Amino acid sequence: MTVKIILDTDPGIDDALAILLALASPEVELLGISAIHGNASTAQVTKNALAILELAHATHIPVYKGCDVPLVKAPLLSPETHGGAGLGYAQLPEPQTQARAEHGSDFMIEQIMAHPGEITLAAIGPLTNLALAIRKEPRIVQNVKEVFIMGGAIQHAGNTTALAEYNTFVDPHAAHVVFHSGMPMTLTPLDVTYQCIFLKEDLERLLKINSPITKFIADSTRFYMEFHDEYQQIDGCVINDPMTLALTFMPEICDYRELVVDVDISTGVGLGNTFADFYNYEKKKPNMKVALGVRPRLFMELFLERMEKLANSLRDD
Ligand code: BDR
Ligand code: CA
Repeated sequence: MTVKIILDTDPGIDDALAILLALASPEVELLGISAIHGNASTAQVTKNALAILELAHATHIPVYKGCDVPLVKAPLLSPETHGGAGLGYAQLPEPQTQARAEHGSDFMIEQIMAHPGEITLAAIGPLTNLALAIRKEPRIVQNVKEVFIMGGAIQHAGNTTALAEYNTFVDPHAAHVVFHSGMPMTLTPLDVTYQCIFLKEDLERLLKINSPITKFIADSTRFYMEFHDEYQQIDGCVINDPMTLALTFMPEICDYRELVVDVDISTGVGLGNTFADFYNYEKKKPNMKVALGVRPRLFMELFLERMEKLANSLRDD
């Protein structure tokens, strides 16, 4: 049985790779993409989502524009990580298709309420669209099948502040709404994503196939690798978002713990910090499953094989 997925995303280099992974995976039925501010403006990431779908010959998948700004804070884009237009050195043609008129949060609500218990959300950007959807239609909490979230750094350093991961730092208030919503959730924090590095050797393997897909992966990840080298002294790049997508159909990539997790929304150095009550001092019911162990080769092989498959289906020679 396929997993029916709505992808809430801010493409973004690793977001783009997650979209490609969804398209390359027969286990996934991608119902639509809702775009969210984050790595670039909402207008830009919406355009990027449309352009990536065109690149992969998947324009039948609808794209919906979502929120332009976080719930409370000012927006924080990440040109140093993803480039000014969000896709590194990749320059995709201006998309010929357009986003649908409906708001991304309304698309989520409409789909979840029309198919109770069937829709999985994969949220790989700041959580503003999902928080808004919960506030507009609280019944989605009982009717969504599951929510997979890329975000947080539980026992890992932050990647945006000393303590906070990017998606939770950009809209901590939205993360707070979502974490406390009661939805069935699985979190993929930096603790596991930083164990899986896409290396230059991996890129060379993909580049054996002459295809617009491999060219795009090369042009986008070259920028991303430069960022990782300069800012974090990492050789290669961390592909957070595709891992979250992969867990929707291959949960065995990670090991999980059911934990009480919260996010700091007080002002100060901890803003956006995600933390787990490992000893359950407060005697609360766990609110999510957290991926804390990972099989990096299992994930990387899945990712590379699926990219090869997609690239081979769209070869230039
Ligand atoms: C997250 O932040 C973004 O830059 C990436 O796309 C990913 O979703 C990692 O912290
Ligand atoms: Ca993202």
